[in-house]
Amino acid sequence: MKGLTGLRTLGRDELTHLITHASRLRDQIDAGAPSGPALAGRVMTNLFFEPSTRTRLSFDLAAQRLGAHVLTFDPSTSSTLKGESLRDSVLTVAAMGTDIMVVRHHEEGVPELVSGWTGLPVINAGDGTNEHPTQALLDAVTMLRHFGRIEGLRVGIVGDIAHSRVAGSLIHSLPTLGADLHLVAPQSWLPRQTSLPATTDLDSLLGDLDVVYLLRVQAERGAEAAADYVESFRLDTTRSSRLPEHAVVMHPGPMNRGVEISDEVADGPRSLVTEQVRNGVPTRMAVLAAVSGVVT
Ligand code: NCD
Repeated sequence: MKGLTGLRTLGRDELTHLITHASRLRDQIDAGAPSGPALAGRVMTNLFFEPSTRTRLSFDLAAQRLGAHVLTFDPSTSSTLKGESLRDSVLTVAAMGTDIMVVRHHEEGVPELVSGWTGLPVINAGDGTNEHPTQALLDAVTMLRHFGRIEGLRVGIVGDIAHSRVAGSLIHSLPTLGADLHLVAPQSWLPRQTSLPATTDLDSLLGDLDVVYLLRVQAERGAEAAADYVESFRLDTTRSSRLPEHAVVMHPGPMNRGVEISDEVADGPRSLVTEQVRNGVPTRMAVLAAVSGVVT
């Protein structure tokens, strides 16, 4: 794999390979088995132009577990503030001897630009409202490990789909993996054109779902969590009690507690949120290995 800027172009075999590899690495981490230094001597550089907790830290840890060096470019303390262009900053970091770039940016398409400028493998850590491929992969790993399959799972993505790059990558991977994906949101946050089933009525779907995947309302992209949104879409204990007994709740984080999810549900027995975070490290290890052409 030359890089990972999105899941749109990946077929079922490629997705399955990454997910099963990640799940195997998760087993190794749980067993305390050290990973071989498959990336020894290589350099991974993080270029995050938007805030991040989980994604950045788990890329760091994933790279370190594989023996790579990690460089972090922080725009808030770098020459970006002196007017240096994105391209010049990227080429500067590349000239130091970077082997892999991990890029998060508020504009769609920046990871592809970086890849074109440098010729390096680039992993998209979230570009605007477009894609966030490693998040959707770790979500698939989480579903696979919980249910033992993805094929046939009924998954409802709920909330600010219009502004969510996580939704973008889920939409481009879960159906390919055989999941039965439903989009649930107020009309203005549903895609204008989609081949997937879409509804504004969360309550009518709850009883049929295996996974409720909640999204954060993206205030930084102009979305607003109005009172009627919270009223009709927040997953609280009442709504959660209408789910089938085996159903689970997922969220990519950061959660806006009280908006899309209540405290009780976020911390309740159906929540796989911590599992998602745990699976982030082995998933990013699998992706780093794949774009580097190494075996772990
Ligand atoms: C997501 C993102 O940045 O797109 N966060 C993450 O990486 N887990 C989701 C979000 O910010 O709502």
